[in-house]
Parts: sequence; C-alpha cells; structure tokens
Amino acid sequence: MLSRLFFKKSIMKKIKCLEMKSISKSFHGIPANQDINLSIESGEIVGLLGENGAGKTTLMNILYGLYQPDSGQININGNRIRINNPVESISHGIGMVHQHFMLIKNHSVIENIALGYKGTPFFFPKMKIREKVHLFSKKFDFRIDPDKKIWQLSAGEQQRVEIIKALLNGAALLILDEPTSVLTPREIKELISILRGMKAKGHMIIFISHKLDEIMEICDRVIVLQKGKIAGSADTKDTDKKSLARMMVGRDVVFNINKEKLAKGKKVLSVENINVNGDKGLPALNNISFELFENEILGVAGVSGNGQRELAEAITGIRPILSGKVKIKGRDITNKSPRCIYDNGVSHVPEERIRFGIAPGLFLYDNAILKQHHLKKFSSRYFLRYNRIKNHTKTIVNKFKVSTHSINTRVRNLSGGNIQKLILGREVSEQPQLLVASHPTYGLDVGATEFLRKHLLELRKQGSSVLLFSEDLEEIFELCDRIAVIFDGRFMAVLDSDDERLCDIGLMMAGSKKI
Ligand SMILES: Nc1ncnc2c1ncn2[C@@H]1O[C@H](COP(=O)(O)OP(=O)(O)OP(=O)(O)O)[C@@H](O)[C@H]1O
Ligand SMILES: [Mg+2]
Repeated sequence: MLSRLFFKKSIMKKIKCLEMKSISKSFHGIPANQDINLSIESGEIVGLLGENGAGKTTLMNILYGLYQPDSGQININGNRIRINNPVESISHGIGMVHQHFMLIKNHSVIENIALGYKGTPFFFPKMKIREKVHLFSKKFDFRIDPDKKIWQLSAGEQQRVEIIKALLNGAALLILDEPTSVLTPREIKELISILRGMKAKGHMIIFISHKLDEIMEICDRVIVLQKGKIAGSADTKDTDKKSLARMMVGRDVVFNINKEKLAKGKKVLSVENINVNGDKGLPALNNISFELFENEILGVAGVSGNGQRELAEAITGIRPILSGKVKIKGRDITNKSPRCIYDNGVSHVPEERIRFGIAPGLFLYDNAILKQHHLKKFSSRYFLRYNRIKNHTKTIVNKFKVSTHSINTRVRNLSGGNIQKLILGREVSEQPQLLVASHPTYGLDVGATEFLRKHLLELRKQGSSVLLFSEDLEEIFELCDRIAVIFDGRFMAVLDSDDERLCDIGLMMAGSKKI
C-alpha cells in the first residue's frame, strides 16, 4: 500500500509500428549504413543478419540514440520522432541489450537497476525495486536474486538483469545485439522462452545473431545486411539456413568440413596433476592431467563455468597453478609469465577478448603485435620498426579479411567480429606450437567461421597442436581428434572423437557419468 503511494508504475510504452526509413551513416567518409529501411510491428521478432562489419550494430546504435544518422528518419506509429540520445530512445519505449554488458560488477542487481531507472523513488528505493524485479521475474520467468552482486551471476543471469532494466523503463521494443554468443546452450533455451513470452505480450524484438539455427527458430522475419546495405529479407517460414547464408555472404557456405586423418606427432603439451583456484578463491581445477601432440586438436567440452576458463588461463600464465606442472616440449613452464610462455610457442585466444585480447584505445597495428613487439623483426634496440609492423598488420588484415578502412584506426572502432579476426590473425601468425583457443568462433559470421575452422585444421596439418574450448558440440566433433569432457574441475573422460562412448557426452557434461 505504502509503495503505491510513493512509486510510479512502469508501464510498457505503446508502439504499434516502428519504421527506420532510408537511414545512412558514414564514419570518416566510409559508409556503414546506406539507405536502410526496416520496420517492425507489435508482437514481431525480426532477425538482423549480416557478415562481420555489415553495419548491424551501427544501425541499432542509431535507433538507440548512440549515433545520429547522416540522413533518414525514424517513425513511431506513423509519426516522425527524433532520438538524440539513449534517454530519449528509452522515453520512446526502446531498450537495448549490448553484446558487452554495461553492468557494474561490484554492485548488486538492485543497485544496477536503480542506476538509470527514472522511477527510483526517494523513499525505500530498494524495497520498490525488489518488488519490481519480483514482478517481472514472475511475469517472464526470469529467476533472478535481486540482492546478489553482478560478479556472482552467470552471463545468462547478467543478461536477464539487462532485460529487466529495459522492461522497467517501459521498453516496448527490445534490441538484442548478439545475445546468445555468451550463453550456454541451456541459457539460450531459457532466453528463447523469455523472448517468446515477451512476444505474446505484444513486445517487439530485434534480434542480432550469427547463429542461423536460432534465427530460424525464433524470428518471424529476417533482414540481411551486406556491406552496409540491405541484401534481402524473408519470412523465416519461407526460407532456410542455406539461402540465408547465401544472401549474407554472396556464396554457398560449407556447414560441415571433413577433416583429414593425421597420425599424431611428438608430444607438445603435458599437464600433470594441476590444481588451480577460481576467482572466488575456491578450487576450480582438481588434479587435471592430459597430453597433447603435434597434428592434434583436443577439444574441451562442458557447460561453461566448470573450469574451462581457469584451465586456459593456467596454461597461458594468467592464473597461478597451486600444484602440479605444465610442460611444453619437455620444458617446464609452470607459473612462468605469459610472455615467457608465449616465447615457448604458446598462443592464446582468450574468452574475454575485449578485456584480455586487445588494447581498445591503441591502433590496429599496435594490437597486431601485442605480445610480439620484442621480437627482433619488430624492434631494434629501443625503437619499434613501424614499417615492418604495418606490413605485418596488412598481411593479417588481408588474410583474415578484417574489414576496416585503414590499419591506422583504433581497434575500438572495429566491429565485434572483426576484433576477433584480428586477435586470431595475430595469435596464429607465428605458427604456434600450441594454440589455446577459447570459443574462437564467438561473434564470427558464418563465412568467417568456416574460414577459421579450415585454418585450425591447416595449423594442425602443419604440425601445431590446438586446445579448443567450445560450447558448440558440433564444432568440437567436426574439428577435434580427441575430446575431453570437463565437469566441476575434473575430466570425466578423454576419448577419441569417434569413440562410441561419446554418445553419453550429455551425461558426462552433467557429471553423472565418468569413464
Ligand atoms: N565509431 C566508429 N568509428 C569508425 N568506424 C566505425 C565506428 N563504429 C562502427 N564503425 C565501422 O562501421 C562498420 C560497421 O560496423 P558494425 O559494428 O555496425 O558491424 P556489425 O555488422 O555489427 O559487425 P559484427 O557482426 O562484427 O558485430 C565497420 O566497418 C566498423 O569498423
Ligand atoms: Mg556488431
């Protein structure tokens, strides 16, 4: 009762139809969006597809008021509106969940929601927001503890906090930029059911994804962008994965690659009984041991949060090893510095690419040699050899098809997928003995994913070994010679990828079967 006296109701804004008309936007004279038309109606889920750098995020940032278009207009229910900043966008009923969450990790769910929530009252703000979170949790089956700190939540839970934030502000249209790339398969299912619930209640959703299966599953309609322009659109019931991929990339994409059988070479990596703690100081890896050989890809399958990140970080020198040993070609690299480990032939594509993979404010060419600046070919005495560095960068950009107008631009201006391509290019450019790759195809479009998978097989053929962490079982089975299943910091099995016992991989991942 008291709360009713003090608190405003958050009501979903009424939008029947939203249109973006002839939207164009350039950065430094290079077009990112050209003459784009997009419309969406109440109760519709529209997919936005396109290669890395096609202009999807730019278009949505315009709708959310982060960028101003050079030309074009936005209409809501037939009336032209102006969106100068996100506050105005929110006031029109538009909400956006960015690919990289914008939450403050040391604050609780309630505190994060209170930030930027107009309806936060002066009296009893916590009580009010807790009540709201409960309300939305019930309505959309969110299941979230409002008093937990953000750092204690999984990626899926953090995403739900972002969605609740948008809904509390009255969002009728929710923009989700690659929402599933950070989620586990179970969390993806939960998200899909939340989105279906929102659709049934009349919300409209714009869903950006590179995963064609998901797009086919939940979208009513798909719009495909190519190099900043509309390449086509289709109702999902009238199209299929292959046609969408062709529309996006302009050619047929191979979804299944056949790997050549290779005999394994000499031992490259040996991990002997290592024990490692996680971020919260509790054991994350429990006596893990395995070996990896030349010409071999070993996949680590498992539900995220079972020690994958800690294992990758322990091997590459980012996380201390409490006991046990890691050796590369017989040399002990346990607890050596990341640079020393790199110099021993170990490359790393990290899980959190923005935090650990690049320096966003530096130029492309600086980022292309982040761990290699001390190599003789890039520096002499105290000076960097910029000519060589720039040539090297150009080679990576061309080979990995990093879409950028110049290498003299800051990395933060690249699209998400293109940042990933640059990191991959850098990490494999020196033909590593071991590549530790965590979700290397996250955020890559179908064409780039195909290219990367072929490249990993090429590295394997040339004698490298790869330790591949992936949530995508199809990817694991397609690329790996052996598969380790991780659960609760332990390996449940390490088997050849054609071993029949792997039909129980689901049980092993859930911890209920050990081989
Ligand atoms: N602030 C900026 N300054 C300069 N260029 C930019 C800026 N933001 C985006 N771009 C450029 O605009 C183009 C489109 O980028 P955008 O992020 O919209 O692509 P995307 O379709 O979202 O790609 P991805 O699938 O990789 O996320 C890219 O070439 C990118 O480098
Ligand atoms: Mg993007």
